[in-house]
Amino acid sequence: MPFDANDVDDVRKNSRIPDFPVEPLFIERWSPRAYDGVFQLSETDLMTMLEAARWAPSCYNIQPWRFLYAFRGDRHWDDYLSLLDPFNAGWAAQASALVIVLSDKMMPGDETHPAKPSGYHSFDTGAAWAQMALQATALGYQAHAMAGIFHDQIAEKLQVPKQYQVEIAVALGKRADPAVLPQELQEREEPSQRYGLQEIAFSGLFPTEALR
Ligand SMILES: Cc1cc2nc3c(=O)[nH]c(=O)nc-3n(C[C@H](O)[C@H](O)[C@H](O)COP(=O)(O)O)c2cc1C
Repeated sequence: MPFDANDVDDVRKNSRIPDFPVEPLFIERWSPRAYDGVFQLSETDLMTMLEAARWAPSCYNIQPWRFLYAFRGDRHWDDYLSLLDPFNAGWAAQASALVIVLSDKMMPGDETHPAKPSGYHSFDTGAAWAQMALQATALGYQAHAMAGIFHDQIAEKLQVPKQYQVEIAVALGKRADPAVLPQELQEREEPSQRYGLQEIAFSGLFPTEALR
């Protein structure tokens, strides 16, 4: 059967089998590199994904996440693409939107407490990215996080104030047939597996035999 980007089974279903029953969305979200380079993502759908991110929990409800975005073909697109490393730019050029995820390194102060550095801005912003990605999958898209980006250039070119840390970029779009990718990437276009739960979760003390 040829790949059909409009068939939710093709977009989301994969070979992953959870050890315990979870909401299907958790295993249907994955990070493809084959995107439909013609499909135009609507602003409404992007806002829905960012809305999901917005409702993430955060330390003291500080909400340190910030998002910058460009749609493929808009006036910022070429700049955004140039801020990805060449490997990522190669496949992400076909995505429908790029989102740069930032986090506020400072906890805001008030009348009684001065502003101070936050220890949880990246942790909280990771939760927001995950919610965005799951919402993308729920809408029939996929989101692919990228740390392979030019962090300093992003800060400079996109006028990010020093208080914010450039975390990742995210490629968003509709999955395409892996055949659109070069051969070596086609072979990697497969949802990855995970450690067993018994390798990552322990009752009580950290078991020495679990040390990697
Ligand atoms: C913070 C972060 C950075 C990542 N950076 C890249 C990247 O630069 N390039 C890339 O192709 N994939 C990148 N990935 C995708 C991971 O390789 C992928 O999430 C991981 O292998 C698990 O696979 P899955 O997302 O398909 O479940 C990144 C993922 C995360 C969460």
